[in-house]
Amino acid sequence: MKDLGVNAGGIRTPEAIKAELQQFYERMAKANGQTALTSTHEHATRNERYGSAFYPDEALDGLPQSIVAGSIACGNPHAIAALQPGEVVLDLGCGSGLDVLLAARQVAPTGFVYGVDMTAEMVELARRNAATVGVTHVEFRQGEIESLPLPDHVVDVVMANCVINLSPEQSVALAEAYRVLKPGGRLTFAEVMVDGDLSTFPISEEDIQIAMNCAGCIFGALTVAAFTHLLEEAGFTEIEVIIQHRHTPEELLNRLPAALQSRLQALDPSVVRELIGCFTSSVIRAQKRA
Ligand SMILES: C[S@@+](CC[C@H](N)C(=O)[O-])C[C@H]1O[C@@H](n2cnc3c(N)ncnc32)[C@H](O)[C@@H]1O
Repeated sequence: MKDLGVNAGGIRTPEAIKAELQQFYERMAKANGQTALTSTHEHATRNERYGSAFYPDEALDGLPQSIVAGSIACGNPHAIAALQPGEVVLDLGCGSGLDVLLAARQVAPTGFVYGVDMTAEMVELARRNAATVGVTHVEFRQGEIESLPLPDHVVDVVMANCVINLSPEQSVALAEAYRVLKPGGRLTFAEVMVDGDLSTFPISEEDIQIAMNCAGCIFGALTVAAFTHLLEEAGFTEIEVIIQHRHTPEELLNRLPAALQSRLQALDPSVVRELIGCFTSSVIRAQKRA
């Protein structure tokens, strides 16, 4: 695994990054497929600042705990999606399918929801979850968000929850989202986003990436400014970012590797709070021109 994708210059290729992610999410799907069956709703919603913790209890009402517990969300794109009956929705990197099932409720009875994920085991789990709740106006396709298995101009809303960060080709993924949207369609994403300028902190980029891993985002987060810029380049307009949650040292510090913890603890606590507070769970919305 170590050499996989390291080219002559020592940079990991997009294929290598995706292969590593796929292994990670394959393990996660297998674990979720088993342990989720014994999880309770309370455990799922209150243990960490990720997953279904971002959803109000009433949004999850009626869904089996096994499905709720399988969420690896880093925000709640439904909070700003305003889905309507009859709309066609696509969820990028749908994982085990919680957002697809929530969207399916809102677009029923005439709408339809697609979920796309590159990890076969996630797609299988999502199909099982949809079957468990008897939802039929959904379809899960295995595929990459950089090359979506959907024709042009077919969806009203593209959603994503904690996946654009993971893409080694984010501008390609956003161009694909734009392509499949109908004119006038909209995008609603939840992502870990950096709100602030990290270059002013006495800590290296590498250490910040390690901290990000521990925040649950295993590749990298964009700054609000960079995300906005990429969306504009892809052709989106009316871009708006809403911060749903700022990480705190209390949530993150004890999950960091010991060496990094002690280096951070040597800094002024207010600097540490400010640094960790730059990492946010945010939602972002944008529009494709009509
Ligand atoms: C952090 S999980 C989020 C899953 C789901 N959205 C949720 O909220 O529970 C990221 C998911 O995106 C998928 N993924 C990562 N990179 C992808 C890519 N380039 N194309 C398609 N799926 C991808 C992974 O397989 C994984 O299921």
